[in-house]
Amino acid sequence: MNRRFDPSGPLRGTLRAPGDKSLSHRAALFGAMCDEPVHVTGYLDAADTNSTLEAVRACGALVERGGEPGALTIRGPGLRGATSADIDVGNAGTLMRLAPGWLAGQPSGTWTFDGDESIRRRPVDRIATPLKQMGANIVAREDRFAPFTVHAAPLHGIEYELPVASAQIKSCVLMAGLLAEGRTAVIEPEPSRDHTERLLARAGARITRDGGRIELTQHDELELGSIHVPGDPSSAAFHIAAAVLVPGSRIVIENMSANWTRIGFVRIVERMGGIVVGDLEPAGAIADTEPVTELDVAAGPLVGTTVEPHEVPLAIDELPLVALLGCFAEGETVVTGAQELRVKESDRIATVVDGLSALGAQIEATDDGFVVTGTGGLRGGTIASHGDHRLAMLGAVAGLASREGVEVVGMDAAAVSYPGFETDLAGLLGR
Ligand code: S3P
Repeated sequence: MNRRFDPSGPLRGTLRAPGDKSLSHRAALFGAMCDEPVHVTGYLDAADTNSTLEAVRACGALVERGGEPGALTIRGPGLRGATSADIDVGNAGTLMRLAPGWLAGQPSGTWTFDGDESIRRRPVDRIATPLKQMGANIVAREDRFAPFTVHAAPLHGIEYELPVASAQIKSCVLMAGLLAEGRTAVIEPEPSRDHTERLLARAGARITRDGGRIELTQHDELELGSIHVPGDPSSAAFHIAAAVLVPGSRIVIENMSANWTRIGFVRIVERMGGIVVGDLEPAGAIADTEPVTELDVAAGPLVGTTVEPHEVPLAIDELPLVALLGCFAEGETVVTGAQELRVKESDRIATVVDGLSALGAQIEATDDGFVVTGTGGLRGGTIASHGDHRLAMLGAVAGLASREGVEVVGMDAAAVSYPGFETDLAGLLGR
């Protein structure tokens, strides 16, 4: 499906950010890992997170949708009760990387994982390596890709130094640690999103954090009662970028997660001169709840910036938007230490650089990021999503701020994380 986004007038009004994708995946998985029913509100209704609901159903959970949109009750098979299943993860990397952490240490069972074309290109050795060190039995295509099979095996705790700051690997090892004999520790090189740690602390797990070291011990039963999923900063980021780029814009985003491990993009936008005001959690906070904020966003003249490696995990999914903002900023915008972008839903260094170049941007790829020379605007043209939801939505925002408009080839990819994206954008444009 192709869609055209023409240069627009200012964005105005209030938007309720859609449910957070990362936390929705975790709500489904952790909900299923509890013995007692867990009531979820704000669950994201999108292709990725629906794959996770299907996955937990396949593993023995009962999932009932409530009256309100985003309301669910999950009655799990519990921490050690997952039943054997064939799991189709679709496009969902988070499901593919987290669920094996729960399943590898089950008393018995076998689970196969497969997904779409993009998922088959994304590495799983990053989770298979630590899980195998814990005693897991995992057989993957070429030792590192889906399809792969997890056979239940007894696990023991390890101390694992993450080779990259990845919340998915961290979460997977911690989940496996719940079922592993003894103590499991994960050491992260830089902080990454911490939803798993917050949920585990609230569920009664014996989890401690000391700097970059997160440790837990084997556990009997998790208890959560209810989980509220706030709005997704990574989805709101598209509207934030549009409001910052289109002169005269002023929007309010309600219900957005203010978790400091998720708002790196807001910090970068502020630094570039965009006006973003909200009550955000201070960096370094250790909490077991998820803070929510309202954000007031307005356009402002932008200047280039350098995104340092330690900021990358806190804004990883929004870095394509930093490249777009860089096109409109004065001077150079540089992103470094972001080689992880190469193993996302697409190789986001290549697809962002090729995509924005085709729209007239001065942007060059580096091994671990990109360099954009701002020219104060963007011509427009055609951009392909390559089946990557974030690239499709980036194209739409680029179109609104461009001189000649942008045709997005493969706009349907947006439904992976944000099926209501075009409707929400139209609302802010008064259409
Ligand atoms: C996610 C972690 C990040 C992010 C992905 C969601 C998560 O991936 O890019 O969209 O929910 O844990 P990595 O942990 O691989 O960096």
